[in-house]
Amino acid sequence: MYAFDIAADSKSALYRDLLAAADALTADEPDGIANMANLSALLSQYLPDLNWAGFYRMVGGELVLGPFQGKAACIRIPVGKGVCGAAAATAGTQLVADVHAFPGHIACDADSRSELVVPVIRDGAVVAVIDLDSPSAARFDADDAAGIEALAQRIASRIG
Ligand code: SME
Repeated sequence: MYAFDIAADSKSALYRDLLAAADALTADEPDGIANMANLSALLSQYLPDLNWAGFYRMVGGELVLGPFQGKAACIRIPVGKGVCGAAAATAGTQLVADVHAFPGHIACDADSRSELVVPVIRDGAVVAVIDLDSPSAARFDADDAAGIEALAQRIASRIG
């Protein structure tokens, strides 16, 4: 069992501690699936107000479901489709305040209202995306995006 000291008094402290925990969890483990599994558990445990947290991996030119916490989800997402596909196509973070207003949004869980998707980039290529969903509208802001981007950068070489 792992115990982490995660501050929740401010977003910057939360993401600072989450990054340290993610780093410690994955630094010595070469298995990418084990690392994605633990990272999705970490995100789901410490980020409030989420209904889904996990990974889609780039496999054979499309996004394929990876380790996650939440309800069973769509398995394959073409690059360019939905919020995850947009993150993969543009190699850019997608911050969506209201998923119902996002053209082509893929509704995996009807509870999801807002979404943050951050690409994981290794050697200049998108190798995965981190997808966070919330049942609350506008749950994510620029601080969340920056926090997850820092985490994505740190773990990019550790997810297989
Ligand atoms: N809503 C996402 C699909 C993945 S699920 O939310 C887990 C999208 O539009 O890409």
